Order: sequence, then C-alpha cells, then structure tokens
Amino acid sequence: MLLIFHDTASASDYVSSTLIEKVRTKPKAVLGLATGGTMEPIYARFVEQALRLQLDVSGLTTFNLDEYVGLRPDHPKSYAAYMHHHLFRHLKFDRARLHLPDGLSTDLDSHSLDYSAKVERCGGIDLQLLGVGGNGHIGFNEPGTPFDSRCHVVQLSERTRMDNSRFFDSGATVPASAITMGMSDIIQAREIVLVATGESKAEIVAEWYENGVTEAIPFTLLKRHTRAKIVLDDAAASLLPDSVRRSRASA
Ligand code: F6R
Repeated sequence: MLLIFHDTASASDYVSSTLIEKVRTKPKAVLGLATGGTMEPIYARFVEQALRLQLDVSGLTTFNLDEYVGLRPDHPKSYAAYMHHHLFRHLKFDRARLHLPDGLSTDLDSHSLDYSAKVERCGGIDLQLLGVGGNGHIGFNEPGTPFDSRCHVVQLSERTRMDNSRFFDSGATVPASAITMGMSDIIQAREIVLVATGESKAEIVAEWYENGVTEAIPFTLLKRHTRAKIVLDDAAASLLPDSVRRSRASA
C-alpha cells in the first residue's frame, strides 16, 4: 500500500501513530528498528506521544537492522549511540530486550548467524520499520544482495558511504563495512512500514514504482509482501506519475 503525505511531519506522525497502535494492541511486540535521518522525526514524535499517553514499552523486544563494523557502542556515530540518543534513553524500555548487531564481535560471521537466529527465537518481527538508501538499499543490503540472504557482513558501497558521510564530522571516515539483517530476515516480518521523505528519495521511489521485483533494487522486494506500507511525503513522491500522486493524495 502506498501512502503519500503532504510533508515529512505528517508522514512521521502517521508512522509514529502506527507504532503506538502496535504497542497498545501487542505490548510484547517484537519491533524491527532502523536508524538514519528519516527515522529521527518519527522517534521524536513517538517519544512525545508515548510519554503523553504513558505508554508501557517495557514488554517490547527490539532488533535493529544494522551496525557499523569497528565502532564501539558508545562511539557517537554508532547506531547503538543513535538509538540511545533518539529513542531508548527517553522511555522505560527493558534494556535486556534491546538488540543491535555487535560491530566489535571477534567473529562477525557467526555473530551475524546468531543474530538472525535470535530474531527467530523471539518469534519473528511483528513490525519492521525501514528507510531506503538513494541506491535502493534496505538495511545495508546493497544492490545485488541475494533475496535469500540472512544477517551478514557487508562492504558498503561508495554511494552509501558518501550519503552517510553527512552524519560524520568532516575529516572522519565512514566505516567501510557493516553488519546488516539480510533481505530474507526483513521480508519475513509480519508487517513492514518503509518510509521515504525528501527530494533526495524521489528518484529511487520512481525506480521502485517503474520496476518489477529485482535484486538490483533491493527495495522492490517489498512488492512481494502483502502487509507492506510505503509511506512517502510529497517531495519523495514528486517523480511518480501524476495519476498515482493524485489518487493517493488523500492521505
Ligand atoms: C539504517 C538503515 C538504512 C537507512 C537508509 C536511509 O538503519 O538501515 O537502510 O534507512 O540508508 O537513511 P536516511 O534515512 O538517513 O536517508
């Protein structure tokens, strides 16, 4: 299902309310979480709503999609630090139920396998949040990643490292590799909400729309999921055909 909102704030409000509803109906839900600029206004809104509603998040289990290899959890640019800053520190989560891949593991391959297995042991993901990279990656599954992949170590493409350099201080280098949940882990989630906002996502959203399911554009795999929502703002939807934009403009 494609939902187009007027601006980033209303798209973020919608996603936050979807999360709130999930927690209310299933307080022990397993959530798949993402990082990145797209998620920041969503987590900010979620924290605000959850505090106002006194939502109990202590029963939730979370699995983050990815983490850079080589960054300590307290490194300010690690995804562990991002999650702490934007979400975890604000609400009373049960810390033992919050999971991120460990980019410092001495055996990254077996750690990755364990991570996929742990998701399964926890009953699988109820609701997976996703952003999308400018090249169509989801998690850090770069174009060409096999659809049957499980959690694994990935060499980041130059494009992704360049896109993400905006989060690093000038002069600091973006790590060359990361651990990411695989395409198969992601698509097994019972429900998926992918969010793309801003002009920089317009081209990949148009490519997603025009193409069939192809490993060259990882994001297209979501077309096979019966409960996947693609949430856009007007800017990200700006290169979609007018007919699509008009027919979806009611969101
Ligand atoms: C982050 C992640 C990535 C981002 C994507 C978009 O955990 O999995 O796939 O969602 O790179 O990043 P932003 O939102 O910064 O444009």
